[in-house]
Amino acid sequence: MKYCILIASCVFLLSCKEKSLPLPAKEPDSIEVKDSLQDDILVQNIKMGNDSVDFRFMGSYPETRYVFVNRMEKSFTEDYLTEFKETTNELHTREKDSLRPQIEYSQHFEIIVKSGKLLGFLYTRSQNEGNNASKQFFAHYFNLIDEKPLQVEGMFRDYDSFKNFATEVKSIVQDTLKNIVYKDKTIEDKDKELAYSNLKTMIAEGTEASADNYKSMVWQTNGNWKIIFDKYAVAPGSFGEITIEIQKSQIAPYLKENFIHLITEEIETPPSTAEAKEMVVQTDSVENKIDCGKVPCVALTFDDGPSAYTPRLLDILKENNVKATFFILGRSAKVQKNTVLRAYQEGHEIENHTWNHKNLVKLNSAQIKEEINNTDALLEEIIGKKSTYLRPPYGSFNKKVRAHTKKPCILWTIDPLDWKERNTDVIAQRLSQAQPNTILLAHDTHKTTVEAIPEVIKRLKEKGYHFVTIEQLFEGQKLENGGKYRKRKSK
Ligand code: NI
Repeated sequence: MKYCILIASCVFLLSCKEKSLPLPAKEPDSIEVKDSLQDDILVQNIKMGNDSVDFRFMGSYPETRYVFVNRMEKSFTEDYLTEFKETTNELHTREKDSLRPQIEYSQHFEIIVKSGKLLGFLYTRSQNEGNNASKQFFAHYFNLIDEKPLQVEGMFRDYDSFKNFATEVKSIVQDTLKNIVYKDKTIEDKDKELAYSNLKTMIAEGTEASADNYKSMVWQTNGNWKIIFDKYAVAPGSFGEITIEIQKSQIAPYLKENFIHLITEEIETPPSTAEAKEMVVQTDSVENKIDCGKVPCVALTFDDGPSAYTPRLLDILKENNVKATFFILGRSAKVQKNTVLRAYQEGHEIENHTWNHKNLVKLNSAQIKEEINNTDALLEEIIGKKSTYLRPPYGSFNKKVRAHTKKPCILWTIDPLDWKERNTDVIAQRLSQAQPNTILLAHDTHKTTVEAIPEVIKRLKEKGYHFVTIEQLFEGQKLENGGKYRKRKSK
């Protein structure tokens, strides 16, 4: 039966090719890009708090086609949320409002490895409590054949191999730290030997063979491994986190043979996004050009995506022939590149909401630039161009941020508080209150928000509004780099 179908479709394909049938006349709208642009790993988020509160939690984790993986990663994230709630609850009772430090917990993940047999994710958790900042790293691996998480111990041939490997790691960490101490100009030469030997106990403890010490072993596509030791794990806090690299040949003798197979076989090469640049991007034809100076316009903008709900949102926008603007996070776009590409090809505008969604006001110049530029570099890779506009996370902005922002900053006119209100009707009601030439803020990270969009579109279209992208909204008006814009200026 299977063969029949195969043969039938081959014959069909061949005959199409030979006769080179003319392509059916299609409107640009019907370009089918959806099927080829699905991501097999999606971003799920758990959020608490936002710009108006001092306590914020934003944790992302992968949604895959494997239920056991999803369940474990979700519960890992919920544990972190519990930790956050405990910290903030305690502060609530202990401190007066004015004394409470701002607390920001954030978790994001990157894909380490993705094949039919193995999945690997690297999590970064960062905590900012007042002026204290710390980070933690966790690597999770899943054996998709056995449907089980792979524990660190399970990667090695036996416990002795793990121990011997740990001894090698210890000497690498020693060399690394010795190097740092000897290069440190703040330590006098005569004190260097002592400063280094004071570290030895910490290094020994921090590199012992245990699951905890080796919780962030990161496989790299060149076959080498990276081991990240959190701040305080092998050295005092002032050293920060320590990352070492282990050559493929150095680790191989210790690893289980079938684990080596799991990790080296069938590794999927990252999808090529190069063809994007050659593909047709749907834009409004000249006749359809909307002049927001003459007709009532409204710009629908979506922040913090792409997420697991973005593909559904793109379907909704397509069904309604509405173009929107996506202020994406670099870290999520890196996981859902195809979603971003699809949004772009379907005529939506893709703009910059930084890489990590940190409050830019709290960062130094180098960090601000990194947050913006890394996201631009990724956009260039995916859609072939950088962003034109920036939306600073939480709308948080000051002179320093302004100085480093070589783009106009687009804020919003209407905030439905959809991070707090998870009710579709309420969201639809709030967003439908738009006035001419305003910007609506929404988050495609919430299912309830995405579900509210058809109603928002219906109501606003009934009122005669035209949906435009940010670029269209401000057409004909000069926006300054570092300037802040909440709506289109009326004449
Ligand atoms: Ni945001």
